[in-house]
Amino acid sequence: MEDFGGKVAVVTGAGSGIGRALALQCAREGMAVAAADLHEGRLDSLSGELGELGARVFTARLDVSDADAMTDFAARASAGLGAPSLLFNNAGILRLGDTWSHAVGDWQSILGINVLGVVNGVNAFLPAMLEAGTAAHIVNTGSVGSLVAAPGMAQYTATKMAVRGITECLHHDLAARDVPIGVSLLCPGPVLTAISDDLMGIESGAPDADPAEHLMAGQPDFITPAEVANCVFEGIRAGRFWIFTHPFNGYLKDMTDAMLAGNNPTYSEVAFD
Ligand SMILES: NC(=O)c1ccc[n+]([C@@H]2O[C@H](COP(=O)([O-])OP(=O)(O)OC[C@H]3O[C@@H](n4cnc5c(N)ncnc54)[C@H](O)[C@@H]3O)[C@@H](O)[C@H]2O)c1
Repeated sequence: MEDFGGKVAVVTGAGSGIGRALALQCAREGMAVAAADLHEGRLDSLSGELGELGARVFTARLDVSDADAMTDFAARASAGLGAPSLLFNNAGILRLGDTWSHAVGDWQSILGINVLGVVNGVNAFLPAMLEAGTAAHIVNTGSVGSLVAAPGMAQYTATKMAVRGITECLHHDLAARDVPIGVSLLCPGPVLTAISDDLMGIESGAPDADPAEHLMAGQPDFITPAEVANCVFEGIRAGRFWIFTHPFNGYLKDMTDAMLAGNNPTYSEVAFD
């Protein structure tokens, strides 16, 4: 998909970070934007910014893990703006801790948001995209955790590996039907957003602002949400399934070599080279 002007984009988790940058980039590309998030205040400020960019906007406060709420969002967004050509299933949360430290309820909530949130988005929006029969693209947000298991990340890794599996299967299912709908898995490395606040010891996120430059100091691997959005649009234009924001080559190669050699997994900090 190469032409975006006049078309409709849907973004979940649009209130902050990567989702917010994607929504703003859609508006800059001349698209109407249907934005969903759990936080109404974030949606209000986003809506103002999208309006200033001249975009038609529809916002909905919803929990992506709620299938009925997603179906309702799809119906109202399509009635207000039209059927989407771009769908970003982006909302997600991060939780850290030893594998055995999480209660079942915590597993259920992160699986509901990170995995079923993607499933709900696909189920709610894809039928209308198929019916329209025009060029469209779905981007599901995975992570480096879709590729690599790290200590303390069992919940996140489990969900993001599931998103990778779902997204690869979606790609195959659509390719088998020869429809003009592309699919991408977005695998960001470290991005300065509210989700990384805990990891960086920052007290409160600034969801409506690009991270201050001083936060980047000493964090050479962290990139901004706007850089991720540029990378995503480049990937969509090129029709790429894998959208990596950082070079994971060295890590992927080491991991695959170890696997094929029958060696047990080891973990060292991901080297982005
Ligand atoms: N920031 C990173 O370093 C990084 C790296 C890899 C992947 N990701 C992924 O990128 C995506 C976006 O994360 P981000 O870093 O921009 O985080 P963020 O916290 O800045 O933004 C996420 C947004 O999703 C919303 N959200 C959370 N739960 C929701 C729910 N149940 N329903 C609807 N909205 C909900 C939040 O309110 C927030 O506005 C996530 O899927 C995350 O896993 C982030």
